[in-house]
Amino acid sequence: MNQIGVVASDSTESTARVIVFEGKEKETAVEDLVLIKNIGGEEIIGVIREGLGINEALKAGEYRPGVAYTKKGGTPSSSREVFDFKVFSIGKIGDRLEQNLKVIAPRSKVYAFDSNENPMRYLSKGLEKAAYIGYYAGHKTWRIPVNVTFIPYHIGVFASTGGGKSYLARHVLIPLLRTLKYDVIVFDWKGRDYAPYFKENTIGLEDVAIDALVAADYLLDKMNFFGVSSYRDSNPLINAFKEYMEDSEWRNLGFEGFKVDLRSKIEKGLSEDESKYARQYLRKLERGLRRLKEEHFLEVCGRKEPKDIVAEAHEKHLLVINMVKAGSPQKLSIFLSIAKYLKERMEKDENVNLALLIDEAPQYAPFQPKGLQEDTTEIIKDLCALGRSYGLVIILLSQGIAGDIGINAAVRRNLNTQFFGSIHPLDIEEASKWLTPYGVKIEFLLRLPPGHFYFAGKMNPAPMPLLMSFELEG
Ligand SMILES: Nc1ncnc2c1ncn2[C@@H]1O[C@H](COP(=O)(O)OP(=O)(O)OP(=O)(O)O)[C@@H](O)[C@H]1O
Ligand SMILES: [Mg+2]
Repeated sequence: MNQIGVVASDSTESTARVIVFEGKEKETAVEDLVLIKNIGGEEIIGVIREGLGINEALKAGEYRPGVAYTKKGGTPSSSREVFDFKVFSIGKIGDRLEQNLKVIAPRSKVYAFDSNENPMRYLSKGLEKAAYIGYYAGHKTWRIPVNVTFIPYHIGVFASTGGGKSYLARHVLIPLLRTLKYDVIVFDWKGRDYAPYFKENTIGLEDVAIDALVAADYLLDKMNFFGVSSYRDSNPLINAFKEYMEDSEWRNLGFEGFKVDLRSKIEKGLSEDESKYARQYLRKLERGLRRLKEEHFLEVCGRKEPKDIVAEAHEKHLLVINMVKAGSPQKLSIFLSIAKYLKERMEKDENVNLALLIDEAPQYAPFQPKGLQEDTTEIIKDLCALGRSYGLVIILLSQGIAGDIGINAAVRRNLNTQFFGSIHPLDIEEASKWLTPYGVKIEFLLRLPPGHFYFAGKMNPAPMPLLMSFELEG
């Protein structure tokens, strides 16, 4: 260990200012971990969260000889210069890391950890299983231990765009869940962040059995709603099409068979009550069908029901649902049907041992849910509540934390572990609530490089957020 300074006046049981030995300020930085050998005998691990450089001769805003000399271009003296750091106690070393209750005495010696003296070993004490999440920022060999008991207490990952959320999910969270024998279903909203990396484990829209009305909407969109632009809800042709989609066995017919069957049924239906317009509608139908391609039709012919999808996730251990081709309502309804199935299973007292990783979470559970989002928000809340007892982990990734850009507050309350990366300025207030009590400066959070996150909450064995990063493997 390498002594860097001593504790200064005005220390408390949880924070201490440290006067830094000359030159040591060059080797010491914010977020470094230190060991304080308290004069009372305890050994306390702390983290540096703030630094200060003071030079009595160079006080700006005052006229002093040193200032005058500098103004003329002279090199200021360093003789009355001192650096200090503010250290926040993480805990007292004991059988496990315990809360320090005694005042950290002024004059106590403060040491920096050398790279080979991994302080993370103190955090692992008393944990039931060894599992790790990335490494302590700046020290690739200091892997951060996690308290695995709290994984099904759910996880939130927050960072503005490009902050590294999807990378964290891919390189850290999914591997962690897999080592702990949780199978994972990823809902890949954009089809960009997971599907290309797990090709063997990806299913697409064309595989999933979707609701007939959702399929009807999808095909109508591809057929430009038969050229009908207003009063679509009361248009007889559109209604006849939806009725057909709901009532017939079109999934078994193949594309050509489907078109033949659709024509004949619609022709029959229209000739009965709307004969005056029948020919016009049939022309619109033909034009619509000409726009429709076989691939569009095949995309809604999937046969995998929620139970098949979950079974496949267990069999392959990781299943990505690539939803890029679907419209928002379709994506939400796919999620909803799987969520409902899992909820039913848990209500029947079944353990599910599964993690649902939901990227772009505000699409499912926004600040103010509308339409289908009301259902998805509600069911995510239910899954969180049940998941704690039945081994279902919910992981939500979001660019924003709260308010317009964030996740619904009732859902957010269920996320007991949080990762905060570089946040959006609109989230300063919310992030401050979580991090400033531990001395993390919000300006610092706004500038975090990609792939750096404050790891906070139940899974973190330390009682305060730790700055972590991770390597990109594979
Ligand atoms: N640990 C890391 N080390 C180095 N670079 C990283 C790391 N994590 C992420 N990055 C870089 O950051 C970029 C953005 O990461 P990512 O796509 O995960 O962001 P995101 O938060 O998911 O953004 P969006 O909200 O737009 O989806 C990556 O392309 C990668 O280059
Ligand atoms: Mg992303």
